Amino acid sequence: MSAGLVQAAYIVAALFFIMSLAGLSKQTSAKAGNYYGITGMTIALIATIFSPSAEGLAWVIVAMVIGGAIGIHLAKKVEMTQMPELVAILHSFVGLAAVIVGFSSYLDPAETATHAEHVIHLVEVFVGIFIGAVTFTGSVVAFGKLRGSIKSSPLNLPHKHKLNLAAIVVSLLLLNYFLNVNGSMFALIVMTLIAFAFGYHLVASIGGADMPVVVSMLNSYSGWAAAAAGFMLANDLLIVTGALVGSSGAILSYIMCKAMNRSFISVIAGGFGQEIIISDDAEQGEHRETTVEEVANMLKDSKSVIITPGYGMAVAQAQYPVYEITEKLRAKGIEVRFGIHPVAGRLPGHMNVLLAEAKVPYDIVLEMDEINDDFSETDTVLVIGANDTVNPAALEDPNSPIAGMPVLEVWNAQNVIVFKRSMNTGYAGVQNPLFFKENTQMLFGDAKESVDAISKAL
Ligand code: TAP
Repeated sequence: MSAGLVQAAYIVAALFFIMSLAGLSKQTSAKAGNYYGITGMTIALIATIFSPSAEGLAWVIVAMVIGGAIGIHLAKKVEMTQMPELVAILHSFVGLAAVIVGFSSYLDPAETATHAEHVIHLVEVFVGIFIGAVTFTGSVVAFGKLRGSIKSSPLNLPHKHKLNLAAIVVSLLLLNYFLNVNGSMFALIVMTLIAFAFGYHLVASIGGADMPVVVSMLNSYSGWAAAAAGFMLANDLLIVTGALVGSSGAILSYIMCKAMNRSFISVIAGGFGQEIIISDDAEQGEHRETTVEEVANMLKDSKSVIITPGYGMAVAQAQYPVYEITEKLRAKGIEVRFGIHPVAGRLPGHMNVLLAEAKVPYDIVLEMDEINDDFSETDTVLVIGANDTVNPAALEDPNSPIAGMPVLEVWNAQNVIVFKRSMNTGYAGVQNPLFFKENTQMLFGDAKESVDAISKAL
């Protein structure tokens, strides 16, 4: 393939990536968005592998077959609820790849004509390795937290913000030294170790409730790491793709911060400016329990019903029976709608994907802002496996770790039924006063079994 053709293919691939992002921004066009992304990536891979500067085709094919086989196996095996973990670990690979590309480009630099070009190359290597190393360890910690193998509560080292600042200042001094001694391996290795520790500390310091922002922030970092690798390899498409991922991840993080009423700077700086609050998970009074029959009767007597799903619906795979009861109630002339919190579940859009999978019509699935004022005119709310996203403490208790986060105000409805297995807390680890309100009743058990039983009773 000639160099000109490769460049043309890169431009076409970049256009497909932009169309993919545009497609993914709406549910109705998301599928097409995925296909655009796949097409763009296929063009990009073919152009890169067969470009005139590519060497060792056999090795590339061997690596692709091994990597592709592992990828297909993992993607087939992964449960929807484990998707954020998979995304986090994939980000870590991008970070690690940037570190490896950085060292390889340092050890085997391309010919540079002028002194300025040489300095620019050294800066690219240094910055690329720094971003890659932060992304790598940060993503590994995010993976551990999402999986539950690392505690989701924030790590609170003494003087944590000073430690972060020191890591950045020392890295800048090392960059200066690295450039002055014409590329010191020593400076590069020390900076890499500092960046590994920095990435670990940055994400470990962020509490469970802010994890959605962390995942999209690491998505953004992985994009910048890829762009840095693109500069080192002089690959324009990698620069463009990295910048697209980097900026869309940053925009998503910003939108999620706004949705959760969190300061963007505070979250990306590892909880900077946040008070350290010890969460209280003690029970706060008496709760009432109900039965499947009672809930079925209550639903039959209702005129309007809102369902607010959360992570528990995903774990139980209860979306299919939820669709069944929706249809049965609608057939009786009862209005049924869904209220979706922006961070319900474990990844952006998690609930929307599950409900779409179960064929729930899009037009009855509403965002939190669209439905929050309607709870006071609603007869029955079914909270199915949601907890933090319906916690009134976010509005009522200024000392709560989730204080200020907008929530679905389900308690304003006539009756609230909470489907869960126990009185355990949700992801943020805080007690939920909703469970002890007069108009709330608990239906304990696996969400799928409970909803199935209600469907039969209806
Ligand atoms: P959570 O607050 O995590 O609550 C889920 C509830 O589901 C739990 O209280 C659990 O109670 C229940 N549950 C689990 N398995 C169940 C089953 N098989 N049947 C019935 N109930 C079950 O969920 P949420 O309200 O969706 O809030 C999401 C939380 O995750 C927020 O704190 C958010 O910040 C965080 N988070 C979100 C994201 C994104 S991007 N959405 C990413 C990372 C973290 P039992 O154990 O008693 O059953």
